[in-house]
Amino acid sequence: MNEHLNTNIYTNLDKQEDSEGLVYIETYGCQMNFSDSEVVASILQANGYGITDNIDEADIILVNTCSIRENAENRIWGRLDIFRLQKRKKPSILIGVIGCMAERLKEKLLEDKKLVDLVVGPDAYRELPVLLRAAEGGQKGINVLLSREETYSDISPVRLDKNGVSAFVSIMRGCNNMCTYCVVPYVRGAERSRNPETIIREVHELIEGGYREVTLLGQNVDSYNWKNDKGERTSFAELLELVAKIDTKLRVRFSTSHPKDLSDEVLYTMAMYENICSHIHLPVQSGSSRILELMNRGYSREYYMNRVEAIRRILPDASITTDIIVGFCTETEIDHDQTLTLMQWVGYDYAYMYKYSERPNTKAARKLVDDVDEEIKTRRLTEIIELQQGKLSEISKNADIGRSFEVLVEGVSKKSTEHLYGRTSQNKVVVFPKQDAKIGDYVYAKIINATSATLLGKIVSEH
Ligand code: SAH
Ligand code: SF4
Ligand code: F3S
Repeated sequence: MNEHLNTNIYTNLDKQEDSEGLVYIETYGCQMNFSDSEVVASILQANGYGITDNIDEADIILVNTCSIRENAENRIWGRLDIFRLQKRKKPSILIGVIGCMAERLKEKLLEDKKLVDLVVGPDAYRELPVLLRAAEGGQKGINVLLSREETYSDISPVRLDKNGVSAFVSIMRGCNNMCTYCVVPYVRGAERSRNPETIIREVHELIEGGYREVTLLGQNVDSYNWKNDKGERTSFAELLELVAKIDTKLRVRFSTSHPKDLSDEVLYTMAMYENICSHIHLPVQSGSSRILELMNRGYSREYYMNRVEAIRRILPDASITTDIIVGFCTETEIDHDQTLTLMQWVGYDYAYMYKYSERPNTKAARKLVDDVDEEIKTRRLTEIIELQQGKLSEISKNADIGRSFEVLVEGVSKKSTEHLYGRTSQNKVVVFPKQDAKIGDYVYAKIINATSATLLGKIVSEH
C-alpha cells in the first residue's frame, strides 16, 4: 500500500442543512487511510454532521495523516500552517488531526494552543462525535488508544471517492511484522482480522450501489486469519474465494501481499477465478539478503525469487509491482547492486521507490545507525528510478503492445472528453477513444501504443 500525493478526494457530496456542522476531511497516506476517512465520514454523518468538499464553508477541518516517512509528516505540518490562516479568518473553526501522525505525536500536537483542537488515533474514530462536542465546548479532545479488537466491521463507509466503479474494503487492521524501519505497527497497533460476514455484506452493498471492483485492504493480507465463535478459521485464500464468488462481474483486487506469507494457495485461488485480478503488489524493499535480515523482513533474496517464480508458474499473465527502499542502514554498493540486479531479474511492471527515512522509536532508529549519506541515498534512488522508469517499464509496455485486454472503464480521460480510461486486470491504465462505452462497462481494448504512464488502445469486439 502506498502513499498517494493527492489529498482532497471529495466530489458531489450531499450537504445536510440541519447538521451539527460541516466537516471537511483531507486525507494523506495509504489506501488504508483513504478507507478510514470513509469510516470517519460515516460515523460523523450518523451523528448529524454534514460532509463538505469546500474548506471555506467548513466548521470542522479533519486531516487524516501519515507518518511513514519524515517528508510525509512535513507535508502535513505545511497544511496545518494553511489551516491556521483559515482559523484566523473564522476563529470558531475546529481543527482535528486524525490517523497515524495523531497516534505518533499524541499530546504534542496540542502544544500549540491556537492550532489543533482534536487528536484522534486510528482506533478511536467512534469517539469522534463525543470529542467534537467537547471541543465545541472549548475543551481540547484527545483519544489515541489503540485497540486489539476494533475493525469498524459494522460501519458501512460513506464512499467519498465517487468514481462509482471501484471501492476499497478494509479486511484487517494493524500489523504484527515489525519491519525494523517501519512506524506502522506503532501507529496502527496489533494485527486483527475483520469478520468475513461483514466484509461480504459490504461487498454486496457496493454491488447494489453499482460498483464493479473492490480492493481488499490490509498491511499484510496474506496473514488474514479470522476465527469464529466455534473456532473455525477463514484464511486469506478462503476469503478471496468467498468474495470472488459473490459476482463474476465484480473485479477483486487486494493489497498488500507480504513475500514471506504469500502462499501458493492464494495464487491457485487467483488462477481459478477470472474476476480476481492478475496483479500482485509484492514489496521487496531490497535485493540484498543481508539488508533484508537487518530490515527483519523474514525472507531472503532467494526466497523472494522463489515466490516470483511461483507467480510466473501459476499466473503467467500476472503483473508484479513492488516497493523499494534505498540507503537503509549499512547498505553498501554491493547491496545496492543486488537491488538493481533483482529488479532486472523480476522485470517489475511498476515500483514505488523511496530513500530510507529514519522514524523515531522504530527498532532501526534504536539499534542501527542511519549511516548512508544523503547524497548517496539520492544517487542510489536516481539509479533505481532510471532503471525502472527506463528499461523495465519499456519492456513491460512493449510486451503489451498488440495484445487485447479486458478493461473496466473508470472515467473520462483528463486530456480529452472524447477518450475514456480504465484498467486492465494487471492494473495498467489504458486510454482509448470512447465510442459507445460508458463508465462501469467492461470493454476489450487492443493496445496500439504507450506513453510514459499509460497504454493507448482502441476498443475491439473481443480478445
Ligand atoms: N504493509 C505494507 C507497507 C506499507 S508502507 C507493506 O509491507 O508493503 C509502504 C512502503 O513504504 C513500504 O513498503 C516501504 O517501502 C516504505 N517505507 C516504510 N517505512 C519507510 C521508511 N522508514 N523509510 C522509507 N520508506 C519506508
Ligand atoms: Fe510496515 Fe512491515 Fe508491517 Fe508493511 S509489513 S506495515 S513494512 S511493519
Ligand atoms: Fe498508511 Fe502512512 Fe499510516 S502509509 S498506515 S497512513 S503511516
